[in-house]
Amino acid sequence: MSRLELMTWTEVDTYLKRSDGIMIPVGSTEQHGPIGIIGTDSLVAQLVAWRAAKICGALVAPTIGYTPAPFNESFPGTISVSSAQFSNLAAEIALCLARQGFRSIYFVNGHGANVAGLRRVRGSVKNARIRIRSWWEFEEISKLRKRLYGKWEGMHATPSEIAITQHVYGSKLVPLEARQPPKLLSKAYILAHAGDRHGPADQHRREFPDGRVGSHSALASPEHGKQLLSVAAAELARDYLRFLRK
Ligand code: NI
Repeated sequence: MSRLELMTWTEVDTYLKRSDGIMIPVGSTEQHGPIGIIGTDSLVAQLVAWRAAKICGALVAPTIGYTPAPFNESFPGTISVSSAQFSNLAAEIALCLARQGFRSIYFVNGHGANVAGLRRVRGSVKNARIRIRSWWEFEEISKLRKRLYGKWEGMHATPSEIAITQHVYGSKLVPLEARQPPKLLSKAYILAHAGDRHGPADQHRREFPDGRVGSHSALASPEHGKQLLSVAAAELARDYLRFLRK
């Protein structure tokens, strides 16, 4: 058993006798373009964590799914909270776990705008070690994303994240417009907007009317998703074990 919410407290107590580590997936609830589902970031982070946990014997806490995405508020279905609120919540979760003996806390991130808030958690949680990694940043997964999609991976509603949800939850029909690539982003744009540093919601929707930010989502396929999930999980499992050994 690797999911906290499916365990009894006595099972957790037993787990703590052999390990002080825990993964916390962190996602978002936001638009992901015309074929990506609203929960993409949360679903992918937790799928990667669940799969990795089976490999490395980790425990996975419930996913934090309400996070900052103010730039997507003009797309219906997006639920955004302030970065401060999110950061406080993540810190309180980590502090509570640390008091029970979880001293190695690994945030598995699925949403660029979470990174700044998660880094602030480090400052407020003194009695536990904190690691923050986004599932797409490991070396092998970066190579695979590049090989599958090249420049069309883009920044948001990426074919790689959508492929993983397709593999597990099925695919949406691709509307005609979404079969075409979106406008290609310049290197300067990508650099300036890393970590989801986007403008106000109305302006963001005007700039990216179908919600894709440089990502050709329609290149995704369930077969790709299967491959991406297994590579990401293997890398996360390895990195989690490295983190515990330190
Ligand atoms: Ni996403």
